[in-house]
Amino acid sequence: MRLILLGPPGAGKGTQAAYITKKFGIPQISTGDMLRAAVKAQTPLGIEAKKIMDAGALVSDDLIIGLVRDRLEQADCKPGYLFDGFPRTLPQADALKDAHIPLDYVVEMVVPEENIIERMSGRRVHPASGRSYHVHFNPPKTPGVDDLTGEPLVQRDDDREETVRHRLAVYRDQTRPLVDYYSQWAASGTAGAPRFRKVSGLGSVEEIRDRIFQALQD
Ligand code: AP5
Ligand code: ZN
Repeated sequence: MRLILLGPPGAGKGTQAAYITKKFGIPQISTGDMLRAAVKAQTPLGIEAKKIMDAGALVSDDLIIGLVRDRLEQADCKPGYLFDGFPRTLPQADALKDAHIPLDYVVEMVVPEENIIERMSGRRVHPASGRSYHVHFNPPKTPGVDDLTGEPLVQRDDDREETVRHRLAVYRDQTRPLVDYYSQWAASGTAGAPRFRKVSGLGSVEEIRDRIFQALQD
């Protein structure tokens, strides 16, 4: 299984990626998680990326494309992969297409903007794995603690309301055009075109999981 999860910040891509990757035995390629790992390790990339991410802007296409290209060479990507937060611009999508990286599905998760701010403000994450929780909607078994490792949960630096609003604007301008890009490619019937699926991201985490599993069946 080779797929892209597309959707605005806070749509639940990371949350659903955990179920999909488990079901299909594939890795999650989250460029956001990769960048946050670089920030934590204070690599030159991380130091550069930190300022951009905290402002809610996008890291340069060249940098991201290089990061993904290296990641795809690793052996665990052989059975497939799930892209989360990538591609995010038309040049990133073109880079993927030009490199003939196979794709079976593009799944768009649709969530209205008014629901996103409350999701982000209650989000807590486990930094080492990228696992996401929500204090009300998807709480950990013990408050403030990751279910699997028992390690503390933190708030992301870019989840301040002002930054979230900017990230949403960046999504509208730069990433939303990919919905047309992929739906038109899918409709063209060209060889190698992925199937395009639109799924509502409203409801319980389990309801959305089942909707996505269903969409990946046909
Ligand atoms: P990235 O990490 O990709 O962030 P994002 O796309 O903005 O998405 P989020 O991780 O915020 O949301 P999500 O959809 O994963 O939602 P989640 O499952 O956590 O990118 C961060 C930054 O890195 C970017 O701003 C940019 O600077 C840089 N970057 C990354 N990739 C890049 C690229 N390709 N090019 C350039 N720059 C790049 O859920 C959100 C919350 O909602 C959680 O609290 C969760 O528990 C809760 N929730 C989930 N499902 C539900 C539900 N059904 N009901 C209620 N609450 C729910
Ligand atoms: Zn995420």
